Amino acid sequence: MLQNKKVLIIGSGGREHAVGWKLDQSLHRPTLYFAPGNAGTKELGTNLEIKATDIIALLEFAKKENIYMTLALPDDPLALGIVDLFRKNNLRIWGPTKEASKLEWSKAFAKDFMHRHNLPTSQFRTFTEEQYNDALSYIDTHTTPVVVKASGLALGKGVLICLTREEAKIAVENILIKKIFGDGGSEIVIEEFLLGPEISTHAISDGVSSKVFPSSQDHKKIGIGDTGLNTGGMGTIAPVPFVDENLMTEIKNKIILPTLVNMEHDGIPFEGILYPGLIITSEGPKIIEFNSRFGDPEVQTYMRLLDVDIFELFDACIEKELYKFEIKWKNLFACNIVLASGGYPNAYEKGKVISGIEEAQSDPDIVIFHAGTTIKDGNLVTNGGRVMGVSATGITLQEALDKAYKAIQKIYYEGIYYRDDIGKRALHTKL
Ligand code: AMP
Ligand code: GLY
Repeated sequence: MLQNKKVLIIGSGGREHAVGWKLDQSLHRPTLYFAPGNAGTKELGTNLEIKATDIIALLEFAKKENIYMTLALPDDPLALGIVDLFRKNNLRIWGPTKEASKLEWSKAFAKDFMHRHNLPTSQFRTFTEEQYNDALSYIDTHTTPVVVKASGLALGKGVLICLTREEAKIAVENILIKKIFGDGGSEIVIEEFLLGPEISTHAISDGVSSKVFPSSQDHKKIGIGDTGLNTGGMGTIAPVPFVDENLMTEIKNKIILPTLVNMEHDGIPFEGILYPGLIITSEGPKIIEFNSRFGDPEVQTYMRLLDVDIFELFDACIEKELYKFEIKWKNLFACNIVLASGGYPNAYEKGKVISGIEEAQSDPDIVIFHAGTTIKDGNLVTNGGRVMGVSATGITLQEALDKAYKAIQKIYYEGIYYRDDIGKRALHTKL
């Protein structure tokens, strides 16, 4: 019944390649379309010249081609309401509605939700442009460091950790008045700084029931030792060695399930991936943000560990039959190291010829997921800040990391940059 169906995957990053790679292994042999995709997804299906944000063109394509299932993976189309639009047109789409994904696209909404439902998070207040002076007065009484956040989407750059009150006031002016993050900064959140290791958690939900994934950890800073600017993510590990079963149970019972249950109570059931970013403080896990989609590169490690047919998983989720589905994970560790363009997350050059991918993948435990890549004059070339993710699995995390770093030695392009310390801190962290 599910045989040879057409699946449309929206997006062009490592996340979309990784999900496509897993779908390609489905026994149901789906035909894959990517909008717009990258050089890696081209090997798995058809890349379309439609932007992830052109939701009208995506709808027309899905109707015309009789697409069986659409996967809305990046944040932008979700915030634009692609799920609502497809459903209105009786098309099957996987992902949260515009209102449900507000947990990600409005930090002010998310904070208010956490506050109303008593979910563990930092002390905070929200301010609009009209409340600029109140924001400055609030900072005068705040402990340092002070965290200042643009409420809306800001390409992962909208969070400023300010060591002094003066710095925090400048941040408020830059975001709220000078609008350095555009409209994403028309409202801000000022919050308490949380101390402790940071982890990512994911759960898939059909609005009624859910399944919690193993823990994972991204490395968001560009520099070795977690220094420098924030990026989209420079590498992940999963599961996180210092997160034991007791802590996962606490996260499930105090954070994930109450979030999903209260979203349903509030009349906005959450369908798709709920991804709370957490800091494990001395008082227990606290939420620093909600995302309403798969993390990238976290998803690249999850796809390596997932031990079920993902096409059936998505289908069960759309049918609201997740309660019947048994999700299984390989008893392994996975890691992923992001190879970036020199200069990222600031300006960088594109079009550098990439070599060595085949050799790097000669080890069957290595899978490379493309992100910013394209084909130009017959060559595989760089086409973005994060170029690709090199993923590996192993019986231990150290084994997975060793394999990934060994494979990277075979890959070359001008300006290649990666962090050589992914997973290092986690291996030595004790809670
Ligand atoms: P976000 O965009 O909310 O994920 O924030 C980006 C990064 O800023 C996070 O990954 C954390 O490393 C850091 N961060 C955000 N909020 C806090 C907080 N309240 N305390 C400490 N670090 C934070
Ligand atoms: N890896 C961070 C994110 O996807 O937001």
